[in-house]
Amino acid sequence: MSTYVTTPIYYVNALPHLGHAYTTIVTDTYSRFRKLCGDDVRFQTGTDEHGEKIVEAAVKEGVSPREYVDRISTAFQGTWPSLSVEPDYLIRTTDADHMQTVQDILQMVYDKGDIYFSEYSGLYCKGCERFLTEKELVDGKCPDHQVAPEEISEQNYFFRMSKYQDWLINHIKENPEFITPERYRNEVLSFLSEPLEDLCISRPTSRLTWGIPLPFDENFVTYVWFDALINYLTGLGYPNGELYAKYWQDAEHVIAKDILKPHAIYWPTMLRSMDVPAYKRLHVHGYWNVDETKMSKSIGNVVRPKDLVEAYGVDTLRYFVLREMSFGLDSSFSADSIIARQNSDLANDLGNLFSRSLTMIDKYAGQKVPQIEQSLEEEAEQELQQAIQDMLVAYEKHMNSFNFHKGLQSVWEVISLLNKYIVTNAPWDLAKDDSQQGRLNVVLYTLLEALRVLAIVLKPVMPSAADKMAAALSLENFDQATLTDCTWGGMTAGQALAAPEPLFPRLEKKKKEQKQQAQSKAKKKPATKAEQLDGVITFEQFGQVELRVATVIAAESIPKADKLLKLTVEAPEKRTIVAGIAEYYAPEDLPGRQVIIVANLKPAKLRGVVSEGMVLAAKQKLEDGTEQLTLATVAEKMAPGSRVA
Ligand code: ME8
Ligand code: MG
Repeated sequence: MSTYVTTPIYYVNALPHLGHAYTTIVTDTYSRFRKLCGDDVRFQTGTDEHGEKIVEAAVKEGVSPREYVDRISTAFQGTWPSLSVEPDYLIRTTDADHMQTVQDILQMVYDKGDIYFSEYSGLYCKGCERFLTEKELVDGKCPDHQVAPEEISEQNYFFRMSKYQDWLINHIKENPEFITPERYRNEVLSFLSEPLEDLCISRPTSRLTWGIPLPFDENFVTYVWFDALINYLTGLGYPNGELYAKYWQDAEHVIAKDILKPHAIYWPTMLRSMDVPAYKRLHVHGYWNVDETKMSKSIGNVVRPKDLVEAYGVDTLRYFVLREMSFGLDSSFSADSIIARQNSDLANDLGNLFSRSLTMIDKYAGQKVPQIEQSLEEEAEQELQQAIQDMLVAYEKHMNSFNFHKGLQSVWEVISLLNKYIVTNAPWDLAKDDSQQGRLNVVLYTLLEALRVLAIVLKPVMPSAADKMAAALSLENFDQATLTDCTWGGMTAGQALAAPEPLFPRLEKKKKEQKQQAQSKAKKKPATKAEQLDGVITFEQFGQVELRVATVIAAESIPKADKLLKLTVEAPEKRTIVAGIAEYYAPEDLPGRQVIIVANLKPAKLRGVVSEGMVLAAKQKLEDGTEQLTLATVAEKMAPGSRVA
């Protein structure tokens, strides 16, 4: 099987930011994942270097467009290695062979009669580099760029896009995976339910010269989108060559919602006119905001990938963006959220599992893979192996459908099972009893095997951390590993293991909190061995959590927060608590109910509402994979404020 996967080619009118980094990390991860599935993969990214926006930016900097595009495209290319992004090809629309092919295609489409000359007037948004319809405007402005479009009237060349409207509607309907997630497919179909206009594909040279000249009229240059979309073909050497023959049929494009229309409407109809088969899948993601605000130069909150890599490391950044964003929906970036993921998911769950396991191999097995007797495997091992099998199925399904957060969730479920497995099977106790040597070996071997599988599945997401894990496990040919290597039993008894490198350091939030933590630590007695283990706490620690019965007196939803409800409770004093239960409870169902709250939690602001505590609830997973949540309560009516102990 082959896979050809692309990012948008980015405009070189600004330096790369978190949004560009996200799309490119996603595409790189998918490319690595397909390689892990055994595919022949080609991954292309690049830069879009023609058009008005670019000229404007160059003029602002006081340099020629040529000099300007060279500078910024170098900055884009230089960003990818620091993100562990490894494209197979970097394309620039100012490449001579790309420009030649665009002209050849224009001539071909023109000769076919799909391009005509006509007068046009319309509302043009420079930010989008396209004409907008009245319907797309919000308060007379382009919703993406917050400026009123310019009324432009001129003679131009047009592509007969309307001719292919019915074909496109059918194609989308017949190929459910053509545009995903579904909301974007529906958006395109709804747009196509109105008559489609033809596409203006030229700009008069009196207005713009920085573009590819039309081969049939020297007074015009090519509209930047008609030029840019063709990059996906020219990067393969279209119309000739092995690459085109091999990869085009498997083309998959990754974009954000801002450029859905050019990719879902212009591009397939252009391909149809050229007699080139449509791409296979278009994957559309949402927008990254920063601290709940749109990222913008004028607000000054633009997040640069370089700064993130410096602060958190490349693996953490990659894991964070893939785990945090539900592909298709918007997400908000904040320093706190990336630190929280690093500390809990990476340092705590994965990092601890890895270092604890290898420390025990060192201590109890002479840093070698132990020999095991299969007959000593118990239910616990069977269950774990089954859980890993199930995880592999879920992982493959979710990664393949761009549900990276779900793929990672299923991996982390296994990580958490493994941490529990260590606590329940207590290798340190087995080590005290000679008659338990066989069981000890089984437990240690199980951990090593599980870590080996984890290293393989994490490879597309966190290539350097996976390499470190593989090195510690002395895995051979790890760079060639595929999912088939996840078959249980790959570790060879007697194999010497290397000393592990720490995978993830813990990050501290802010200096002040760091100090407080240091102070409270200093006061405490040194922790016992049991306390050092995850998941074990003392009576004293539990006693620090103040649980109380509270009566809900009011509940309301919070604007723009689909998951949250704002509760007013009596405990017995009146408090506001924000609870993530909106998917399971309607506000009107809540007043009068009694709930259990954590009463001595430090207040925290959630979506602008200060939450003075936390509501307890139980969660379970149903057979169909959905989650069910129910609020914890008391069996009899109690006075609000009663302690729960
Ligand atoms: O549109 N969140 O280039 P562009 C997530 N040259 N992704 C974001 C983002 C954000 N806040 N901001 C940008 C162009 N992106 C054209 C494309 S393709 C033939 C031509 C990412 O520099 C996302 O992938 O404006 C989005 O689609 C792309 O950058 C737009 O990049
Ligand atoms: Mg843009």
